[in-house]
Amino acid sequence: MKFARLIPLLLLSACTGTATNPLAGYDTVQPTTMMSAPAARRAADSNDPEVRGRYLVELLGCATCHTDGALVGEPRMDRWLAGSRTGIAYSNPLQQQNPGVLFPRNLTPDKATGIGRWTDQEIMDLIRTGVGRHGRIAAPVMPWPAYSRLSNNDISAIVAYLRSLPAVVHEVPDRVPAGTATREDYVHFGVYRSRR
Ligand code: HEC
Repeated sequence: MKFARLIPLLLLSACTGTATNPLAGYDTVQPTTMMSAPAARRAADSNDPEVRGRYLVELLGCATCHTDGALVGEPRMDRWLAGSRTGIAYSNPLQQQNPGVLFPRNLTPDKATGIGRWTDQEIMDLIRTGVGRHGRIAAPVMPWPAYSRLSNNDISAIVAYLRSLPAVVHEVPDRVPAGTATREDYVHFGVYRSRR
C-alpha cells in the first residue's frame, strides 16, 4: 500500500506544540521509504507461499510501518519488519498537544519481542479483523480494515513469509495514551480539508 504517498501531510514530532500553532514543534518529512520491491513482479505468480508472501508484504506496505526508521526515510534493513521505534499518532496533534501514539510491532518470529508465540490463526485474525492474541482490537492505524478481504491463500502466504524471517530481538515502546507527553519520535498521517 503506497500509504504515505497518498497522504499529503506527514509530520514528525520534534518537541511540543504551542497554543497558537499546534504544529510549531513538528517538521514535515518526505517519506522516501515505501519499500521498493524489485522482485515483486516475478514473485506475483509464484506458487511458493513464502515468495508470494513476500510479494504481498511489499505490496501492502507492511514494512513501511513495521521497520525501524522507514517512516522517516531511514529504513534499517537489518531490522526488516522487526518493529518501529518511530510511532504513529492515532489522535490529531492539531487538536491535542499530546496525541496518543502507537508503535508498529515486531513481526519477526522472536518469541519474546516478536510474534513467535502467536499461532497462524491469531496472526491471520489480527491482519484481517484487528483482533489480536492479546484480545483487544488493534487500532485502525494498523490498517486491518483494508486487509479484511485478503483471500485465505494470500493471508496464509503472508504468515508463511513472516515465519520465514530471521528472529530479531527488538522491543518497541508501549503505546502512549492520548494526553500523555512522550519523548519518543512519532509521525502523524493526516488529510486536511479546507473549511471554505
Ligand atoms: C500504516 C502503518 C501500518 C501498516 C502499513 C501495517 N501495520 Fe501492522 N501494525 C501497525 C501498528 C501501529 C500496530 C500496533 C497496533 C496496536 O497496538 O493497536 C500494528 C500491529 C500489527 C500486528 C500485531 C502485532 C502485535 O504484536 O500486537 C500484526 C501481526 C501486524 N501489525 C501485521 C501487519 C502486516 C502483515 C501488515 C501488512 C499486510 C501490516 N501489519 C501493515 C501499523 C501498520
